[in-house]
Amino acid sequence: MGFDLLKGKRGIIFGALNDMSIAWKVAERAVEEGAQITLSNTPVACRMGEVVDLGKKLNAEIIPADATNVADLENVFAKSMEVLGGKIDFVLHSIGMSLNVRKKRVYHDLDYNYLNKTLDISAISFHKVLQVGFKMDAISEWGSVMALSYVAAQRTFYGYNDMADAKALLESIARSFGYIYGRERKVRVNTISQSPTVTTAGSGVKGIDGLIDFSERMSPLGNADAMDCANYCITMFSDLTRKVTMQNLFHDGGFSNVGMSLRAMTQYNKSFEQNDLKDMY
Ligand code: NAI
Repeated sequence: MGFDLLKGKRGIIFGALNDMSIAWKVAERAVEEGAQITLSNTPVACRMGEVVDLGKKLNAEIIPADATNVADLENVFAKSMEVLGGKIDFVLHSIGMSLNVRKKRVYHDLDYNYLNKTLDISAISFHKVLQVGFKMDAISEWGSVMALSYVAAQRTFYGYNDMADAKALLESIARSFGYIYGRERKVRVNTISQSPTVTTAGSGVKGIDGLIDFSERMSPLGNADAMDCANYCITMFSDLTRKVTMQNLFHDGGFSNVGMSLRAMTQYNKSFEQNDLKDMY
């Protein structure tokens, strides 16, 4: 059900790959709330992916771009302003990829070329999006730019690898650019730190099933799913959150403030029982 929260607004959504993608849900919800949007993803994803179907369904132009390429991003902003008929009110950066994770290089044996790519794709591309938007003066006053992060930016999570460093940088860029964009143009910049979520990128994380179960048990409200995340993004794009900027906003059912929960402890204790049983035989 829509509340017209984004009525008349123009947005760019980066990173919808398939119907599991967080960006996919955000795109659907944004249009439901009255926005007009464009979609962007890598040329390969746009050619081969399901993005074309989403574009048709939402009447959204698809503008291919490698988010690490400044000229591509300039084209995304220029075309988006052209087809949507004015400056952009909101942007979602929902982009992440680590070749070290993909190629199963562990954190104490990183390939540094891969690390550079991880940082460029998953974090510096956010700076590029912001800088291009700023230089082109493409984002309207009180516009809202969001990127998606994970709590491994603050605390170490086994298996999250170099993506943890990328997320720490991503959140820092939101603060640093958020100060300048707020001061100069009244544009807000934030990150949402989302629960582990079953998506294509999420499935790359080592032990993701265990991690999802663990954080589900640790979070008093349970994990936030992709649709919950989309709804949060919509409020952050809306005029209801105009004074929120430079923040990393935890959207995780309470996970980040829990040290140990009853449900997690109960599960943990079961492992002792099993070990005790084994000892008996
Ligand atoms: P996804 O795999 O659906 O989305 C990742 C997107 O990044 C894809 O659309 C992919 O084509 C795009 N991408 C990769 N390289 C690119 C490049 N060079 N240029 C432009 N686009 C590129 O997965 P998901 O989970 O929806 O990921 C979206 C964001 O949410 C990522 O930043 C991810 O780290 C973040 N996130 C995901 C969580 C999860 O558990 N799935 C938890 C917390 C944050």
